[in-house]
Amino acid sequence: MTTPPPNARPTPDAPRGTPASPAQPGAQRASEGRKPERPASEVRRPAKASWTVLELLRWTTDHFTQRGIETARLDAECLLAHALGVERLRLYLDFEKPTTPAERAAFRELVRRRGTDRVPVALLLGRREFWSLPLEVSPDVLVPRPETETLVEAALDLLPADSEARVLEIGTGSGAVALALASERPGIRITATDLSPAALELAGRNADGLHMAERIHRVQGHLFDPVDGESFDLVVSNPPYVAESQRAELPPELLHEPPGALFGGPDGTEVLREIVGGVRRVLAPGGALALELSPEQAPRVADWCRAQGLHNVSERRDLAGRVRVVVAAHRAEGGV
Ligand SMILES: C[S@@+](CC[C@H](N)C(=O)[O-])C[C@H]1O[C@@H](n2cnc3c(N)ncnc32)[C@H](O)[C@@H]1O
Repeated sequence: MTTPPPNARPTPDAPRGTPASPAQPGAQRASEGRKPERPASEVRRPAKASWTVLELLRWTTDHFTQRGIETARLDAECLLAHALGVERLRLYLDFEKPTTPAERAAFRELVRRRGTDRVPVALLLGRREFWSLPLEVSPDVLVPRPETETLVEAALDLLPADSEARVLEIGTGSGAVALALASERPGIRITATDLSPAALELAGRNADGLHMAERIHRVQGHLFDPVDGESFDLVVSNPPYVAESQRAELPPELLHEPPGALFGGPDGTEVLREIVGGVRRVLAPGGALALELSPEQAPRVADWCRAQGLHNVSERRDLAGRVRVVVAAHRAEGGV
């Protein structure tokens, strides 16, 4: 693959090293030879008796920026709000509020894990919003990505508002896609599979939390194996499609996500190819397949769909104009 991997957010390599404690921002700045924002006498102090919310945010934003984190301010706000146990927007009302040593200790650890270990913010918080649904996430699942909303949109276009379609999601992870579809189409019945039992367990907790557990049947196993003999009107999947050959160039954040959710063989297309090759086993006449992929994989996947006798092969682009989804129908005249 020549373009950035699909599930990767490009993040420049960060300089390694242990950051100075947020309780000692002056020491950090001075040690890096940068112009201090305060008089030298003040910044050289080993520690301040008290730090306000705004001071912590400024220091941390600077610290993350130096480490190449593109969303430095947002990350700082999310982590500080988490450490203080408040909503992020509350910070704006509390800028001048002093923080306690216990709050700073909790925040310092989060800042270390984000800045040095490069753990994604969603994993530090244990939650991520997708399709406006609050979801629990963990190192057992891929953190749902904004680009996957293109897959949800493509699937919804195939499902009328009153649809009672039988939908299969392969590789549900946190349950993000299945839950988004269920939240929009009250009449559909969804079967969600995953190879990972831990992912299915988490998807179950998310479905419970959103009161949709009854509507999503979860089954563990490889691709179509757990639904052998069943028939579906729509098959959707965001399978692992990052190329193994790109492993060394990936942003460090991705190392915190399960390899089984990311990598799809040497060029990333192994699972995509298996899904296209096997989908007719489970697709009802008139049914459709919608697959998320990386832009440069789209022409090959579209060709495989046609070779399997699927029709009306089309592409969907994300907000940045990149092809993210290929859709194909079981029959030319079909609809879900
Ligand atoms: C890219 S993640 C997608 C997760 C979720 N659907 C999303 O969009 O956020 C791919 C998921 O497919 C699962 N998976 C990988 N190989 C699989 C296979 N052969 N059969 C079923 N699931 C598989 C992984 O465990 C992972 O949860």
